[in-house]
Amino acid sequence: MDFSPINLTEQLIALKENATAELGCSLTTSELEAWRVTYLGRTEGLLPKAIKLLRVIPKEDRQATGSFANEVKSFLESKYSQQLELIKNQNSTEKNDQYSIDVTLPGRPTRKGRLHPTTQIIREVCSAFESMGFQTVEGPEVEWELFNFGLLNIPQDHPARDMWNTIWIENTNDNFDDRGGMLLRTHTSPMQARTMLKVQPPIRVVVPGRCYRYEATDATHEWHFFQIEGLAVDEGITFSDLKGTLYEFARQTFGAKRKVRFRCDYFPFVEPGVEMAIDCFSCDGIGCRICKQTGWIEIMGAGMVHPKVLEMVGYDPNRYTGFAFGLGAERIGMLKYGIDDIRFFYDNDLRFLRQF
Ligand code: FA5
Repeated sequence: MDFSPINLTEQLIALKENATAELGCSLTTSELEAWRVTYLGRTEGLLPKAIKLLRVIPKEDRQATGSFANEVKSFLESKYSQQLELIKNQNSTEKNDQYSIDVTLPGRPTRKGRLHPTTQIIREVCSAFESMGFQTVEGPEVEWELFNFGLLNIPQDHPARDMWNTIWIENTNDNFDDRGGMLLRTHTSPMQARTMLKVQPPIRVVVPGRCYRYEATDATHEWHFFQIEGLAVDEGITFSDLKGTLYEFARQTFGAKRKVRFRCDYFPFVEPGVEMAIDCFSCDGIGCRICKQTGWIEIMGAGMVHPKVLEMVGYDPNRYTGFAFGLGAERIGMLKYGIDDIRFFYDNDLRFLRQF
């Protein structure tokens, strides 16, 4: 575009219109730069070229044309800045879009949760007993002394209380009534009395739950662990029922091959009391490290409900008899899966937990 000193104002108007129209088509930084060089470029730009002609136009027109030329210059410069800003913003939005979501990428895999091994064992054991007509119930972890000891034929001064190292809770029994102090239950047996006080025979319940003992931990002892209690009370229940039920439980849990052994044991709330063991799954009863060379592994305490316990909850011991048992859930898991340290259960080490 060549300019002449005649009608310079009209030429500046045309330049302004052309430049504005072309600016709208400059959509990238390089297009905009080309536009800037064409219209505003210091040496070859069209506007500076037109401005140079101001020197040769008649003196009386110079001031008005000159100030119009300056207006055009400021107008184009500010349009240029606006367009530059617009392009920059667009570029950064495009970049953000590019980095924030790529819908074609495969989704991130989510790790599936699973039941804790103790929960799995509890469910398995309870369902074995449920298949024999037992109902699963739960009881409080914070318990009265009366239920944990008294109603289980373990009176205040009875040496059997020494068998459990109890974690006591500050006494909230302001009346000092016969419920005694409060504690974290040392076993699930308190649910025997709680159940019998609530319902009349026939009773068949299993009670899974957390227990606490104030004792040092080692490979087979935790300070908190799970027990599963069992109780059956009815007319005419005998020791054969106890044996038959526990044989069936062992068959379902450890397989038909396992042998079962009962030996006398002492618990104040059963008479007679027994300890039940299965022959070692690892050495088939020959003797190894796991069964401490005995060939047998103890899995629970059991026995016929003591007549005094029945009397204390208001049952007639001449009419009703029953059996009870209590086993450690983690110990069953250890036997079943060959785990040689109970502390693995509660270390929260995913390498261990993922195996179940
Ligand atoms: C009892 O607690 C009785 N209440 C069981 C019972 C119920 C006997 C009904 C007769 C009739 P014992 O203290 O032996 O008994 O515990 C029972 C089971 O709990 C043990 O065989 C063991 O498997 C588990 N157990 C006991 N102490 C711990 C511990 N510190 N850590 C892990 N498991 C334990």
